[in-house]
Amino acid sequence: MTINKTQSQKLKQYIDNDKTTKKSNLAKLIAITSGKGGVGKTNFILNLAIAMSIRGKKVLLIDADMNLSNIDVLLGIYPQYSLSNLMDDLITVDQLLVEGPRGISIMPASSGDIMVMKNIKEYQQALINAYTELRKDYDYILIDTGAGISDLSVDFVLSADKVLVITTPEPTAITDAYAMIKVLFYRAKSPDIGLIINLAQTDEEGKTIFNKINLIVQHFLNKSVVHAGTIPHDSSIPESVKEQVPFIIKRPRSVASASVHNIAISILKEDKE
Ligand SMILES: Nc1ncnc2c1ncn2[C@@H]1O[C@H](COP(=O)(O)OP(=O)(O)O)[C@@H](O)[C@H]1O
Ligand SMILES: [Mg+2]
Repeated sequence: MTINKTQSQKLKQYIDNDKTTKKSNLAKLIAITSGKGGVGKTNFILNLAIAMSIRGKKVLLIDADMNLSNIDVLLGIYPQYSLSNLMDDLITVDQLLVEGPRGISIMPASSGDIMVMKNIKEYQQALINAYTELRKDYDYILIDTGAGISDLSVDFVLSADKVLVITTPEPTAITDAYAMIKVLFYRAKSPDIGLIINLAQTDEEGKTIFNKINLIVQHFLNKSVVHAGTIPHDSSIPESVKEQVPFIIKRPRSVASASVHNIAISILKEDKE
């Protein structure tokens, strides 16, 4: 991989400039990412968005997984437009947004958008332009990104204020999560990284896996990450996926819902302090 900090610095500068020009009440940007795919990013971030909205926050959820976008599929919705239409100046940002459950707004992507794009950089810049314009209208902007540690995907993830890295207890997922964390620390000065352990058998296992990863981070990188939460294996998640209704709505009292509510509560609390 080529190591070049310029791109991430530019993106960050772009966002920070915006922060200083419009001082008050700009949405906090939280990106979810992972090293390995299929570890639960999209299900988690969609339900987190709903949990925050239930608590009175204005939330925009962006589907920025250019390869395998599927927030629309989880909700059984059929957005008319996707970001590539915005890039082609065929629509305005407002036309792109779709209303989701419990008042969340969704900026959809469409699988295969990447195929019709001139290049990924341009696509990411269009996405950043779009959400920068919307920052004043929301409390939180949550970004679902693709997995993997290519330069461009990491730079994009680092345009957020906070990065949530999600892993499962499987050794392959752990190794890839560590690789992601390493690159995040390499390419940004002091990124705010929270680690989420999904598909844990118990909370105890979640803690053990977190400690294991954090020890490696401390030992090899001389940094540390924060345990943002554990989500247990819960059959209500695949069931809700099949029914295309988010589990936090369909099964509000499930263990997975309780975990996501707890993560939402800690993020909101942290931002109040
Ligand atoms: N905590 C969990 N318990 C059970 N199944 C889960 C859990 N989290 C995710 N899944 C399942 O894992 C699959 C991948 O989840 P998804 O959110 O699409 O991952 P990603 O966005 O990282 O590719 C889905 O089919 C979902 O039903
Ligand atoms: Mg996904």
